[in-house]
Amino acid sequence: MKIGIFDSGLGGLTVVEAIAALIKGAEIYYVADTKHAPYGEKTPEQITQYSLNIAQYLIDRHQIDALIVACNTATSAAIGQLREHYPSLIILGTEPGVKPAIQCTKTKNIGVLATPATLKGEKYQQLVSALSAQEGIRLFEQACPGLVEQIEKGEIQSAKTREMLTAWLTPMLQNNVDTIVLGCTHYPLVEALIKEIMQHKVQLIQTGGAIARHLLSQSEAKGHINAGPLRIFLYTTGEIQTPIIDQIIKDHEPIKKINIGN
Ligand code: DGL
Repeated sequence: MKIGIFDSGLGGLTVVEAIAALIKGAEIYYVADTKHAPYGEKTPEQITQYSLNIAQYLIDRHQIDALIVACNTATSAAIGQLREHYPSLIILGTEPGVKPAIQCTKTKNIGVLATPATLKGEKYQQLVSALSAQEGIRLFEQACPGLVEQIEKGEIQSAKTREMLTAWLTPMLQNNVDTIVLGCTHYPLVEALIKEIMQHKVQLIQTGGAIARHLLSQSEAKGHINAGPLRIFLYTTGEIQTPIIDQIIKDHEPIKKINIGN
């Protein structure tokens, strides 16, 4: 099986990590679209165009059988169009784990950290309005403009990143939030800092594991035999922090720079 995965940058590697822990006998082709990062501050039309271009590249060059949109922002903007364009491909997206958070919370106060585009998107609004019927749940939504750039620069413990997160998380701490949804695949990379600012009294919800399980069941239904070696090929459209990649994915082929779209 050949699996195409993409994100605006490093974030989707947190999904690759979860997939690599579960899937065997496959080739993973990962595209980090750093030339266009951050997606979260682009229009839905721009994000859809980037996503379609990457999907076409993965199909033409690598003949993928499955496409994982390892980005909440691109899922929100483009998943419908991707499914319309490629009806025979297994296509899985990433959505903020609000439902699992509702199952975990004890205080019924849940934080959601995401990009501005994800929180504004129709998909998230629909998800939240379907869940708002749930008695007594209070959602503390926080857009985090600039956080993806900090992570892309490798500043996962810097003073500036700490200052940004402290400003966003202090109201959550004061309001007894015990569960935070990481609604962007980059944010698990600042997990340690988030836990520290929340005084280690918080559970963080990310969705990489659920995506990996979903992919395994869909691919096995199509005949994939989950045995044998896994190879990971990494591509980037712009600059990327290679030391961070090596920390997340221990075993991968050399990173190649490619040109996709404009
Ligand atoms: N990892 C992407 C997400 O999950 C980041 C989007 C961005 O580049 O702003 O939303």
